[in-house]
Amino acid sequence: MKSFWPFGRRKRVIAKPRLAASGPSGGPVLERHNRRMLLILAHPALQRSRVNAALYAAVADMADDVTFHDLYESYADFSIDVEVEQQRLADHDLIILQFPMYWYATPALLKEWLDMVWLHGFAYGRSGTRLHGKTLLCAVTTGGEPEAYTPSGSNRFPIAEFLRPMEATAYLCGLAWAEPFIIHDTFQIDDAGIAIQAARYRKRLAELIAALPVTNSAPATATAA
Ligand SMILES: Cc1cc2nc3c(=O)[nH]c(=O)nc-3n(C[C@H](O)[C@H](O)[C@H](O)COP(=O)(O)O)c2cc1C
Repeated sequence: MKSFWPFGRRKRVIAKPRLAASGPSGGPVLERHNRRMLLILAHPALQRSRVNAALYAAVADMADDVTFHDLYESYADFSIDVEVEQQRLADHDLIILQFPMYWYATPALLKEWLDMVWLHGFAYGRSGTRLHGKTLLCAVTTGGEPEAYTPSGSNRFPIAEFLRPMEATAYLCGLAWAEPFIIHDTFQIDDAGIAIQAARYRKRLAELIAALPVTNSAPATATAA
């Protein structure tokens, strides 16, 4: 019987080694607080990832400006340190959420992190202003090809529709919504294509950092975990 995979044409998965410990997978400790961009990666099986692992590796040397945070590495048990996560968010101006699209949504741990960390009184509500003025960028990979995200395609709706919950969250919590960074057709993309997308990702992050207003002081609220 013909197998059916609704999100795109499957290609043989080539296992890649997990990123080296010296790479951006740094765990929850905040050593420095002058970084203005926080890149949160949520991929439940990074050792099998082709695209997200390559994107993450492509920006690894931007550590002067970027705090890297691999959610599944830090919280494999889903036991999230809310205080540390809130402080980490408060300490950065640009929040990047990088993830593969799973069932038209984020992987489960990223949703759990949102539920646990973006709380009333912190992210929203009368006194919940800690995220105001920041910028949120979703960097998303999809198995579905671009045509799948059209009215006549298998996913029926444009990708922007599936990201509306994130966009509404940004709006509610006072963050600017940056144009999402999307890579489609991940089952078909070859290594050269991944390299092109990785360079595009790197350029996008560099542009976002360069566009930040210049400040002379580090965030006042920094703490170490
Ligand atoms: C549980 C699961 C659900 C998925 N759901 C979707 C989906 O809703 N839409 C889509 O386009 N691709 C979907 N995919 C395909 C993934 O988005 C794709 O495998 C991923 O972007 C590849 O990135 P990677 O190489 O970093 O793993 C799904 C894959 C899995 C395993």
